[in-house]
Amino acid sequence: MALTIKQIHPVFVGEVSGVDLTRPLSREDVAAIADGMNRHAVLVFHGQDITDAQQIAFSLNFGELEVKARPGNIRKASESRLGAGIGDLSNLDKNGKIISGDDRQWFFKLGDRLWHSDSSYAEVPAKHSLLSARVVPSWGGNTDFADMRAAYDALDQRTKEEIEDLVCEHSLIHSRAAVGFTDLTPEEIASFRPVRQRLVRVHPETGRKSLFLSAHAGAIEGWTIPEARSFLRDLTEHATQREFVHSHVWRQHDLVMWDNRATMHRARRFDRNEVRDMRRTTLAGNAPTIEQLAA
Ligand SMILES: [Fe+2]
Repeated sequence: MALTIKQIHPVFVGEVSGVDLTRPLSREDVAAIADGMNRHAVLVFHGQDITDAQQIAFSLNFGELEVKARPGNIRKASESRLGAGIGDLSNLDKNGKIISGDDRQWFFKLGDRLWHSDSSYAEVPAKHSLLSARVVPSWGGNTDFADMRAAYDALDQRTKEEIEDLVCEHSLIHSRAAVGFTDLTPEEIASFRPVRQRLVRVHPETGRKSLFLSAHAGAIEGWTIPEARSFLRDLTEHATQREFVHSHVWRQHDLVMWDNRATMHRARRFDRNEVRDMRRTTLAGNAPTIEQLAA
């Protein structure tokens, strides 16, 4: 059963068949998936009924797990449902009960409904994210992806020159304020202080440029806030036009792997009275974007 990858969108997203992610992979299969990631930026695997340990083992073929220097959410470690190395992207609390709709943790999670790149609020943002669907709701809950390489390529020359060396400030405070959630403690505000990210990044493996946008971006250095936010909104609208976007409709046991250096994504609504159990492993990036040399 040979591994094959079929592109399922005009500019990105590959669907992978002929591989069982619950078992150790051959060197050839690892290389084919890594190459597929560089080419397609998002890979979809169907029918992968995996455990947390198997998901971690598969992820480690492509890098190291991200260990955050600062927290990425408002949940205390003692409140987590899952073990180390697995991110809980469900709507469940540590006892497996659906989180109340007026719980601040739920408000915080709703920030993921905005277009973003995972951990762009960290000095070294994430490389890949791998999301496994363990239980899917009967309706909604798609994940949308946008190809930020194609979005960059489609910009006019004047805009490309203008943004080439711009630096943005990214913070969870900004993406949460964008959904109206500002009820953060002084400790949370301190831990979510902004980081600097280049607006145009060069992919370290392919050399392709992309727009590094995210709902976490709330300022451009040297610009006024209104000028910066209106421009970031324009760029985000440009980058999330239909021609650059793929909507993944989840089936139970799908695993989707994406490159945060080349894409944005967003979660979509679902019936919050139903269980949605999604588990994520995240691979660490290797350097701050700010250190990127001009190509
Ligand atoms: Fe995300």
